[in-house]
Amino acid sequence: MHDNPFRPGFGISPPMLAGRDALLDEWREVLGLGAWSPFRAALVTGMRGVGKTVLLNAVEDEARERGWTVVHGTLHAGLVDALEHDRLPELLQAADPEAVGRELTGVTLPQLGGATTQVVQRYPREPRLESMLARLVELAEARGAGLLVSLDEVSREALDELRRIAVAVQHLMREDRRTAIVAAGVPAAVAAALDAEGLTFFRRAQQVRLDTLTLAEARAALAEPIRSRGRTIDDAALERAARASEGYPFLVQSIGARAWEHDAQAPAIDLAAVEAAVAIAHEAMGESVIVPALRGLSARDRDYLAAMAEDDGPAATGRVAQRMGAQPGVAGRQRARLLDAGIVVAPARGLVDFAIPRMREHLRAHPHDAQLGLPTAARETFRE
Ligand SMILES: Nc1ncnc2c1ncn2[C@@H]1O[C@H](COP(=O)(O)OP(=O)(O)OP(=O)(O)O)[C@@H](O)[C@H]1O
Ligand SMILES: [Mg+2]
Repeated sequence: MHDNPFRPGFGISPPMLAGRDALLDEWREVLGLGAWSPFRAALVTGMRGVGKTVLLNAVEDEARERGWTVVHGTLHAGLVDALEHDRLPELLQAADPEAVGRELTGVTLPQLGGATTQVVQRYPREPRLESMLARLVELAEARGAGLLVSLDEVSREALDELRRIAVAVQHLMREDRRTAIVAAGVPAAVAAALDAEGLTFFRRAQQVRLDTLTLAEARAALAEPIRSRGRTIDDAALERAARASEGYPFLVQSIGARAWEHDAQAPAIDLAAVEAAVAIAHEAMGESVIVPALRGLSARDRDYLAAMAEDDGPAATGRVAQRMGAQPGVAGRQRARLLDAGIVVAPARGLVDFAIPRMREHLRAHPHDAQLGLPTAARETFRE
């Protein structure tokens, strides 16, 4: 009864995936028999910690439940190699033990083999990725299922890998094989993929922008797991927890986990438990989310954030440029990059705000985290 249901962290599926039902329905349609949908090729984007990876996990689970073969990969240089030498042979072995035996021994048994296998053997230099995926989809179709390729962490560094896989999948789709592909990444990386040569395929893909949770979704994500484990949470406590999460899924889990632990023997989670949990969870945002996000930025980008943090709410872009001592056009470049990185949002024309909860408070409390680069005008504001 006291096992903590909440899962603060990255890539760990939550006890309740809130607010994504409508989206999952789209994929259920793709996976359903004979259905055609633009979600057959989808590109998921959203800020750090919004829930891209766990959404991919949920889509993969749906696929496996329907007997589909799932090829999952986190993009990095060397992914194609790992797929060709490790994971695809493993999946082939599971689906059709004879097929791999033929490939590995090089013994041609035409009476057993399909055309694909023979091509692999006759032309060993042919990219194996294509032929292995083709064989996997062939086997899946024979079972009345299909092949889902799921790729996480789209990044500029691994665009070549993405291209190789996309070309292979696109080929299968052109042949009208039962294939679906979903790729996820932060906005900047996805934008780079959309611009990249050889990846035009993704420009026609369904763009899925994941947003933070609504207040009602945050409440559900907190209350449901507590209740299903036999405990309760007071109304006021639930309200406080949901609001303090700002709908940021990572914080929902982090606050939920700490509120659960506060007095694990008590049947009800009360406001005092939630207050304590919120304080710890907010403090922990720095190390687990904010500092890692700042690390990936240039000194000028961080200056822009430091200048924004002077305002209590959305900042006027002109004022931010002024504080940085920068020409508005130059500051505009920082702004665009930060928007791309999913670190800031533009709530209205001429305004910018922090996308990640607690970043303003963190930058105010730890100004040095914004000052890892060369001195600039904005830094002066922190000297006194
Ligand atoms: N819809 C949701 N409901 C409840 N919790 C969620 C939801 N989506 C994500 N979470 C939780 O939020 C945290 C972050 O999720 P996830 O790792 O999927 O984010 P991400 O977008 O992949 O982040 P990154 O860009 O850093 O890879 C996890 O603890 C996860 O359990
Ligand atoms: Mg992720």
